[in-house]
Amino acid sequence: MCGIFGAVSSVDIQKDLIEGLFKLEYRGYDSAGLSLISKSSKIKRIRCTGKVKELKKLLSTSKVTGKCGIAHTRWATHGIPNLRNSHPHNSGPFSIVHNGIIENSDELKLILIKKGFKFTSDTDSEVIAHLLASCVTKKKGLLEIVLAALDKLKGSFALAVIHQDNPDSIIVASNGSPLLIGIGKSATYIASDIHALISKTKKYIPLEDNELAIVSRNNVSLYNQKGKKITRSPLITKQSSKTVSKNGFKHYMQKEIFEQKDIIDRVIKDRLGSKTILPNIFGPKSDVMLKSIKHVHFVACGTSYNASLIAKYWIEELSDIMCTAEIASEYRYRTINVPNDTLFVAISQSGETADTIYSVKKAKSSNYKSILSICNVPESTITRLSDYSYLMQAGPEISVASTKAFTSQLIALLLLSTTLSRSSAKYSVEYEIVKQIKTLPKILDKTFELEKDMKIMAKQFKNKHHTLFLGRGASYPIALEAALKLKEISYIHAEGYAAGELKHGPLALVDKDMPVVGLMPDNNLVNQVLSNLSEVKARHGLVYIFTNKKMKLKKNDKTKIITMPACGHYIAPLVYVIPMQLLSYHVAIFKKTNIDQPRNLAKSVTVE
Ligand code: G6P
Repeated sequence: MCGIFGAVSSVDIQKDLIEGLFKLEYRGYDSAGLSLISKSSKIKRIRCTGKVKELKKLLSTSKVTGKCGIAHTRWATHGIPNLRNSHPHNSGPFSIVHNGIIENSDELKLILIKKGFKFTSDTDSEVIAHLLASCVTKKKGLLEIVLAALDKLKGSFALAVIHQDNPDSIIVASNGSPLLIGIGKSATYIASDIHALISKTKKYIPLEDNELAIVSRNNVSLYNQKGKKITRSPLITKQSSKTVSKNGFKHYMQKEIFEQKDIIDRVIKDRLGSKTILPNIFGPKSDVMLKSIKHVHFVACGTSYNASLIAKYWIEELSDIMCTAEIASEYRYRTINVPNDTLFVAISQSGETADTIYSVKKAKSSNYKSILSICNVPESTITRLSDYSYLMQAGPEISVASTKAFTSQLIALLLLSTTLSRSSAKYSVEYEIVKQIKTLPKILDKTFELEKDMKIMAKQFKNKHHTLFLGRGASYPIALEAALKLKEISYIHAEGYAAGELKHGPLALVDKDMPVVGLMPDNNLVNQVLSNLSEVKARHGLVYIFTNKKMKLKKNDKTKIITMPACGHYIAPLVYVIPMQLLSYHVAIFKKTNIDQPRNLAKSVTVE
């Protein structure tokens, strides 16, 4: 799971490669490397462990130059993050970079070892380099060699290949992993996503599955897997190349937490009328399509999946539509039954998560009425594959731990649930929900004031090894999200539970050292959550209650009450997640972890 960048130009391209890799670091930051074809037609490779800045340092002290090259930032799948496993991988005249997983690499490795190829890494990717070298014959041209090698590969890949005797071209191929070709005035580029291209050019061609291309400075030739030429006009991206700064904040995560109010302001301005939701906010003619929907099937990963779980509560409460929410990596491999008039909804901040992309592809060939995506990145793979799309307009989210994308997804999902409720009219709540959303900016201002309490609480959490978050109803997915945030950036083991499940197992973990956080907005489930928390107190657990219910709860050494601002029923999840994000952030500050780029993780998971 990695980022790929490359360029063919009339001038030296080292700086371009580094700049491109910086923009792709969200896809992995374990190690980095690049290969250039030098003036003397030799492949010059530089690699390092760690981040792109380390590669930049290395490059500044080396004399490696070239006008054609490929570069890579890695997230380890096969083989630990060390120098020998860093990309590019070389064999004979070839150098390659790869994103994806080669499923038959063990098999191919045995065959190639028998042929005398020597492996120097533990990666599946190295197989590709040797496979290419093994396909070389006098009669075959470069395209035929690559086609012959691709024919033997099973799995997913975005691949870029250079050959020392072809100093003016890069061959790229894609199957299941994205790769785009950017067409500039005096150079052509390749990249894993559009963001890495837009500072160079707005004109691009996305490679489709099972396609390859020969990319040179003035030309791009596309082929199918049989080697037949294809023609396709380039697209023009509407995005602009803004650099994202921390804006005075210490970390991107902190900045993104505090941006959530502005994003909601934008939604209110762009998507809401005075009392209702504006028409067709899910794409042209989407209101008509949504009227006919009888079932909704959400598929997503990570934080986006947690958002979908809340939508399930909203949709079934507001309408008579049945709703399922599912993890993409499960959905993609299981047998599915799709009732008529089912809407498939993919939720993804990046729009590039491999499991979600595969799920959308599977859904496209199933009996769904329509495919809707809720994404933050315009022109991302998932957006391109969908019939309808809603752009979250949250602006780039840089921190690996998702915060503002989550609340933007929740707003989109609340608007979707409300739009869907129009046809089944279980309740007529559109006015009420629009009214509640409009109160959010002020409520969030008050919620942010809890930061000082979260700092105090974080100090109490910093040396803990385990934490439980409990909630019922729509607060249960917030408990899941709270636990996910804490484990992602503070490395404290945390679990989110439906409060009623406590006595079915997790209660066994509770002792005097175990903090248990109860999320308890004022609703019809308060008494049930309270009784679950009493079960914790009876086992000497430390209880923290977040609530806006005016209750005569007595604070004591074992029970802390954090008073939340009053808020409407539907918007409560958007309010209650904020202190959870702040808590994780401040625990991570105490623990001095790498907050924006936590160990072992990546912003966009582009392999399964
Ligand atoms: C990674 C990120 C998470 C994110 C998940 C799904 O694990 O670190 O923050 O929630 O992928 O990503 P997506 O872009 O599909 O929402």
